[in-house]
Amino acid sequence: MQQPESHILVIFGASGDLTKRKLIPALFELDQQKLLPEKFAILGVSRTEMTDQAFREKMREFLPFTSPNDAAFSKFLEAIYYQSLETSEASDYPKLKERLERLGDRLSIPANYIFYLSTPPQLYRVIPQILAESGMNDLSTGFKRIIIEKPFGTDLDSARELNKNLLTFYSEGQLFRIDHYLGKETVQNMLVTRFSNGIFEPIWNQNFIHHVEITSAETLGVEDRGGYYDHSGALRDMVQNHLMQLVGMIAMEPPVVIEANAIRNEVLKVFQSMRPIQEADVPRQVFRGQYTPSHIGEELIKGYREENGVDSQSRTETFVALKFNIDNFRWAGVPFYIRTGKKLPTRVTEVVIYFKTTPHHLFEYHADTEPINNQLVLRIQPDEGVLLKLGMKVPGAGFRVQTMNMDFHYNELSDKYLPSAYSRLLLDCMHGDATLYSRSDAVEKAWEYFQPILDAWKNNCDIPIYGYPAGTWGPEVVDQLVENGYWRRPCKNLAHDGEYCEL
Ligand code: BG6
Repeated sequence: MQQPESHILVIFGASGDLTKRKLIPALFELDQQKLLPEKFAILGVSRTEMTDQAFREKMREFLPFTSPNDAAFSKFLEAIYYQSLETSEASDYPKLKERLERLGDRLSIPANYIFYLSTPPQLYRVIPQILAESGMNDLSTGFKRIIIEKPFGTDLDSARELNKNLLTFYSEGQLFRIDHYLGKETVQNMLVTRFSNGIFEPIWNQNFIHHVEITSAETLGVEDRGGYYDHSGALRDMVQNHLMQLVGMIAMEPPVVIEANAIRNEVLKVFQSMRPIQEADVPRQVFRGQYTPSHIGEELIKGYREENGVDSQSRTETFVALKFNIDNFRWAGVPFYIRTGKKLPTRVTEVVIYFKTTPHHLFEYHADTEPINNQLVLRIQPDEGVLLKLGMKVPGAGFRVQTMNMDFHYNELSDKYLPSAYSRLLLDCMHGDATLYSRSDAVEKAWEYFQPILDAWKNNCDIPIYGYPAGTWGPEVVDQLVENGYWRRPCKNLAHDGEYCEL
């Protein structure tokens, strides 16, 4: 693969968690794979005063240990620099400009810059604007790109305002809105599964598919992010962004080419075809829950309201399940279900396509072998892979049918390098490829879709928030949402469903 053009990557919010846990390790991974540009520097920026060396030492702790004499490791660390800056003060920015120019001169790097905003969202308008006003968006000297972490707004109005502000100073092609779900290999593989296999595409529609179920479960609670999460909740934190990207991949029409705008146009069309949920329908179509204290084994698990930074009367949802329809030729009449939550029994993200049963049932079915709904499970994480459930004959007399699993696991490709989501996305941005980044119109469309739900929850206190004991699959009432009350009970291992579920 061609190396990206030489550039400096500026990380705002360099002393934050994301930088050390995700960004620096992802960059190191790219370095090890020899995918970084020939001339490259990382400039960490935040308010704390620190020397380059002190910053390097901090970052070193988050890199996999290699021998102290490892020359490649030392070279990577030496490419990291640090600049303290009052990020919201325009008067401080000449300092940054000068530092970039000096670094560029010394390392012979042209004025190609990527600015990564790993800061609190309040700064998403401020930093890009000051950068542009201080002459750091001068395209005549090299490329200038901005990467923005989610959340892109907290509702429709704030998202529109943010986009409007960014687009005053930058073109859409310079803006890279990161959604780390799109960086996951298994999410990208959904496109390949659909569009490279002649057997799936002809049946990928309302003639053959009964319904689609998307699950994203986490065992963790809000940990030390209570302050943020209590103002966000599961709908904003997971559904409006990450899980909508999965919907886009599953439901889109084949793009004309694999190219940023072709793919993103198709995703947008899916969002545009989603039948709006009216405020009045929210209580029937969207269920929210919050985890309550419980015992898992010997351990007493805290309820959400007891978590640090969380209001003791909080009505923020840590679980959400919803049903929706996509009104187009392909999906007319096919219900889609999403559920996501914290403190569930296992960590798993997957999409299940339930195919319709055969029109006539010839065989003998028993309680555990009802007419087979063939299921195709696209597992995003963990035990990444694909599972197909098929009906097979039970050996012996008669024609008894049993469901069997045909499974493929990504770890069977152990000789292949699987990039982490952040390294894949960073590399794409370095190449100027926005295919796996969210475009402003799709972000706004997604907010538009969820706004009535947010409004209903805000305006109507009678809409219940159901408690569920930590470690369970969410409020029981959620079974009412799906026709036959059946949600798949996935386990850590892709093919071990229904056998046990680790707690
Ligand atoms: C983040 C959310 O965007 O995604 C977190 O803010 C969530 O609350 C995380 O835990 C899930 O990501 P992953 O990759 O672990 O599924």
